[in-house]
Amino acid sequence: MKVLVTGAAGFIGSHLCEALLRGGCDVTGVDNFDPYYERSAKERNLAAAMEKNSFSFVELDLRDAAATTSLMAQGWDCVVHLAGRGGVRRSIAEPRAYLDVNYGATLNVLEGMREGGAKRLVFASTSSVYGNSPKALFREDDSTDRPVSPYSATKKACEVLCHTYHHLFGLNVYVLRFFTVYGPRQRPDMAIHQFVRAISQRRPIQRFGDGSTHRDYTYVDDIVAGVVQAVHRVDGYEIINIGGAHTTTLADLIQTIERLLGEEARIEQQPVPPGDVFRTEADNAKARRLLDFEPKVGLEEGLRAFIQWYQKEQNL
Ligand SMILES: NC(=O)c1ccc[n+]([C@@H]2O[C@H](COP(=O)([O-])OP(=O)(O)OC[C@H]3O[C@@H](n4cnc5c(N)ncnc54)[C@H](O)[C@@H]3O)[C@@H](O)[C@H]2O)c1
Repeated sequence: MKVLVTGAAGFIGSHLCEALLRGGCDVTGVDNFDPYYERSAKERNLAAAMEKNSFSFVELDLRDAAATTSLMAQGWDCVVHLAGRGGVRRSIAEPRAYLDVNYGATLNVLEGMREGGAKRLVFASTSSVYGNSPKALFREDDSTDRPVSPYSATKKACEVLCHTYHHLFGLNVYVLRFFTVYGPRQRPDMAIHQFVRAISQRRPIQRFGDGSTHRDYTYVDDIVAGVVQAVHRVDGYEIINIGGAHTTTLADLIQTIERLLGEEARIEQQPVPPGDVFRTEADNAKARRLLDFEPKVGLEEGLRAFIQWYQKEQNL
């Protein structure tokens, strides 16, 4: 099976490429090394995949419509579109950049697939499309009409655009809503990475709010297992939550990291930023049904793996 992975040098994309290669796929990765974080970190992410004969890499900016169209015409059995800008808070400061990368590049991917005849797409969306939903468990058919950041608004727009291409041109699309992903190679702007870095360096951590916000943390291998199933099964148009079933308060998360590092955090409390949501928790029933999805890695085990990776990176 010939699979194209966009955002292949990123956190989730690099793990996905390795998993697809292990499963016997021919994988091509594409990435433009967006300066959101260091290129050198992304090159390290790619190193293991680069050693495999069945992996190729293309450096290309998906905002370039002509280049994206010719890439999409190369006979892919499935395209996994992960490339984009994450980060809720930064999207408030730079909404245009998020629109260009998240929405503009997705339009180019969809148009390229239409012109090039590729028929199957897996698209990375986010739990943040649910906004400040009052429901305990987030289900795919809940309203997502009230996103609270430009980042989530762009992802919601992409979900809708994917549906339009399914309706008009028969593209098969699985939209996967990832719930806070963590593990080795996690983006440096994400909370777990920031906390481990600051506590290890005995610097204060910034905690937004009183510690009572909740997140459903999902270990990267569990996310990747869901994406791999989606690659093999995508058919029709479906939106599917992929969550870790480990909804935890921010205070508990920090305490677990302190315990694993054997260091106490110095906490500087800040107000909750306006684009942040208070709680996320996935209803995974649809993922179980369509993808046989079952998250396997508990929060403590996953944090240990992240810390081990982080400490190894510091000694490079
Ligand atoms: N990490 C999470 O918790 C999380 C949660 C929900 C959704 N997502 C989504 O999953 C996807 C991957 O997230 P991640 O955490 O691995 O992020 P990441 O930033 O590590 O990876 C994204 C990759 O896309 C590349 N990219 C950006 N713009 C590009 C462009 N114009 N052309 C080509 N490549 C481009 C970047 O260089 C980067 O390597 C994103 O779409 C993100 O919105 C992530």
